[in-house]
Amino acid sequence: MKTWLRELPKVELHLHIEGSLEPELMFALAARNHIELPYASIEEVKAAYDFSDLQSFLDLYYLGMRVLRTEQDFFDLAMAYFERAHEEGVVHVELSFDPQAHLGRGVELAIPFEGLRRAMREAEQRFGMSTALIMSFLRDRDASEAMTVLEKASPWYEVIDAVGLDSAEVGNPPAKFAAVFERARALGIPRVAHAGEEGPAAYISEALDVLDICRVDHGVACLQDEALVERLRNSQIPLTVCPLSNVRLKVVETMVDHPLPAMLEKGVKVTLNSDDPAYFGGGMLDNYVACFDAFGWDQRVFKQLAGNAIDVAFMSDARRRELV
Ligand code: ADE
Ligand code: ZN
Repeated sequence: MKTWLRELPKVELHLHIEGSLEPELMFALAARNHIELPYASIEEVKAAYDFSDLQSFLDLYYLGMRVLRTEQDFFDLAMAYFERAHEEGVVHVELSFDPQAHLGRGVELAIPFEGLRRAMREAEQRFGMSTALIMSFLRDRDASEAMTVLEKASPWYEVIDAVGLDSAEVGNPPAKFAAVFERARALGIPRVAHAGEEGPAAYISEALDVLDICRVDHGVACLQDEALVERLRNSQIPLTVCPLSNVRLKVVETMVDHPLPAMLEKGVKVTLNSDDPAYFGGGMLDNYVACFDAFGWDQRVFKQLAGNAIDVAFMSDARRRELV
C-alpha cells in the first residue's frame, strides 16, 4: 500500500514553506549567514520539537526561520522541499509564506517573492510539477500591518494565487481581518484562512461569512456544530486537513482519534496536507500512510481525497484535466 500511495499523484494545498525548513538546512543557512542558533546540534533541534500546543510550535517556527535572509536562501528552502515532494509523488504544490515574519527582521518583500518564484519555475521545469503561491497574514498582529503588506505586494499581484491567514488562532478571530480580505477581494485575489484548528467552529463560520474564503485551512473543529457541517457538505467548500500536524500540536490525542473519518462520513470535502513537514514528522506521503495505518482506508478513499485536492487547487483547467 505504501508503494501505491507514493505513486498516487498527490496535490498539496496546505504547506507553510518556512515549516519545511529541515534542521540540516537550518544549520547550513545559519553558518552561511553568520546567525547564531540556540541549538548545539541537529539532535538538539529535533529534541526541541516536542510541542504542547500551537503556540509552543510557533515560537520555534519563528525562531528557525531567522536563518532565511537572502533570495538564495528562500530558493534553496523551496527547492529542497520540491525535491522531497517530487520523490513522494506530489504533482502540485501550493506553498504559503509569511511575509510579516520576514519584514520584521528587515527582509524585504522582494526577497521571499523572488526566491520562491525562481524555485517554483525550476520545479515546474525539472519535475513537471505545477505550483501556486499563497501570501499569508499573521493573525496575531494588527490588521493594519496586514493591509500595508497587501498594498506593498502590488508588484507581485499577478503571481499571488491567494492570500491566507495563519499564526495564533484563539483570540484572533477572522473578523479582525475583514477589511484586508475585502481589499484582496476587490483586487480579484482569492482567499483562504486557517480556521477551527485550535479555535472554535464559530471561527470557521465567521471566516466563511466575513472573509468570503474559498477554502478552510484545517477546519477540524467543524464537527462541534451540526449546522456548520451541513453548510460545508452542501457548499462543498474544501477543508485542507493536516492530520500529523493535529497530532503533534495536540489538537487530537492520537491519529485514531482524528475526526477525518467522521468528516468524510458526513460528506465534507476534505483533503490531506502536511502543514509544516519539518516540524511535524513528515510530508505528504507520511500523512497518507498515517491515515492508512490509523483508519485502514482502501484505495478508493485515497483516490477521492487526492481527487478532492485536484478539484479545488489553484491550477489551470488544462493542468486539472491532465491530473484527473
Ligand atoms: N503557521 C505555520 N503553521 C501553522 C499552523 N499549523 N497553524 C497556524 N499558523 C501556522
Ligand atoms: Zn497551516
